[in-house]
Amino acid sequence: MTIIQLPDVGVTMALVSTLQASLPDFGRIVDQHGHPATALRQLGLVHWENGRFDTAARTFAAALSLAPEDPDLWRDLASVYSASDRDELALTAIRKSLELDPLNAQSWQTLASVGDRLDDTEMAEDAYRRTIALNPEAPAAHLGLGLLLFRKKHYEEALAALRVSVALDPVNGVAHYALGHLSFIANDFAGCARAFDEAVRLALPLDPLTRQKRARALTFQAMIEGRVHEALQNYNVIAGEDREDLDIITRDAFSVLSATGHLEVAATIGRMRLAEKPHDPVRRYLLDAVLGQSMNAAPTDYIETYFDQFAPQFDSKLTDTLQYNAPRQMAQRLAAHRASFRHMLDLGCGTGLAAAELQPLGSALTGVDLSAGMLAEADKRGGYTELVKAEAVAYLAGTDNRFDLIFAADSLIYFGDLGPLMRAAAGALVPGGLFALSVELDSGDGVTLQPSGRFAHSLNHLKATTSDFVILEIIESNIRLEAGRPVPGLYVLLERR
Ligand SMILES: C[S@@+](CC[C@H](N)C(=O)[O-])C[C@H]1O[C@@H](n2cnc3c(N)ncnc32)[C@H](O)[C@@H]1O
Repeated sequence: MTIIQLPDVGVTMALVSTLQASLPDFGRIVDQHGHPATALRQLGLVHWENGRFDTAARTFAAALSLAPEDPDLWRDLASVYSASDRDELALTAIRKSLELDPLNAQSWQTLASVGDRLDDTEMAEDAYRRTIALNPEAPAAHLGLGLLLFRKKHYEEALAALRVSVALDPVNGVAHYALGHLSFIANDFAGCARAFDEAVRLALPLDPLTRQKRARALTFQAMIEGRVHEALQNYNVIAGEDREDLDIITRDAFSVLSATGHLEVAATIGRMRLAEKPHDPVRRYLLDAVLGQSMNAAPTDYIETYFDQFAPQFDSKLTDTLQYNAPRQMAQRLAAHRASFRHMLDLGCGTGLAAAELQPLGSALTGVDLSAGMLAEADKRGGYTELVKAEAVAYLAGTDNRFDLIFAADSLIYFGDLGPLMRAAAGALVPGGLFALSVELDSGDGVTLQPSGRFAHSLNHLKATTSDFVILEIIESNIRLEAGRPVPGLYVLLERR
């Protein structure tokens, strides 16, 4: 830990004499309090307020040489160190202050901001929480905690913290700004636009991306209120020079509104979009999904078109925005059962996120996918001995390979009835071979095509279609986010009988 060297008392007393001689106010304060430490603190505060951080720090250190057990002085010293980017020294000083007075909310708040600046999230979060426990009415602590949780992508908790902060201190533009972004993530579009407008009213200018978000929020909200055509007509005026392509706005409105249960509005938008491009397989299938049409699997032309378009952004969108890490979770579970395979198949391999997870378990890895775009990304990433463009069931039924592992992360969600795929998988596995898979969980009895275009499978359906297998493990877990909310799913490990 960084050490803070305080000046000798003799040096400080010489300074006090000089100050008494040159600054009458200083002399008066010394006389009033009978102790020069208080006068030095006052002088330090004046230097601090005027931005003379180095002089302020030297003055507080001088005061501390006379009163080393004063927790407020240590906190002041920490604050000026922090203000002049000397965060390690600030940390030492604020820890000393808390050692002397562990129940001071302001000192915990200072530790939290120092922790934030040092990127020590754990320390900062703990310190914000302690500040709030000691003083629940500290808006800055709720704001700091909210922003930190926002960065950690704990959106619900972040939103709650920011709402408290804004209620306690309604004139902080930064809090409204962050509240606007979090409200958008929580699909509270009216709240989002209100918060951004309040930030502007409090003289916080919005950056272009935030202005775009505000225009989207107002448009989506008008759509939710049933004014789809009016919302689209007004969009260009609301967005002004920040406007995005209307096709992107309707595409995203369709996906956000269907994911948040506004199915009628989503269907209206979906019909409009299909009328513009009647042969687009993505528009047709997603409208069918929103309308609740029944089908056995997502059509192959949808899969190819959708994933070819999505491929370049897939990794960042899935792993970052949607917090998807099924390949890692599944590979870890798998390795706990068996750690070595002769020939592995990554079914619906996509961009190859599973390759790095599977490599330690064996050297022969075949990847199969329908989308050429996704396979191209997998090829760039590497790790596969072979990449095959094929439909999954057709591949399993036709291949001469006999695998001892089939790994299907987030790809069975494009199949309704899993029966045919399970039978084909059993045929392509050696006896005793393993099948690791994930599904999104349907709380009912069967299979549901969700408005997202992905199927959800119930535990009963899974059990009914796996008679060729012994179920080794079923683990419930959130698979990813959908419109900011966790999607419940299952990680399943089967053994071929
Ligand atoms: C959500 S991605 C998951 C990719 C990868 N497994 C991962 O975990 O990142 C689903 C992948 O399954 C592929 N897919 C969907 N249905 C398929 C089918 N019937 N046959 C082959 N691949 C399919 C898609 O092309 C897409 O690459």
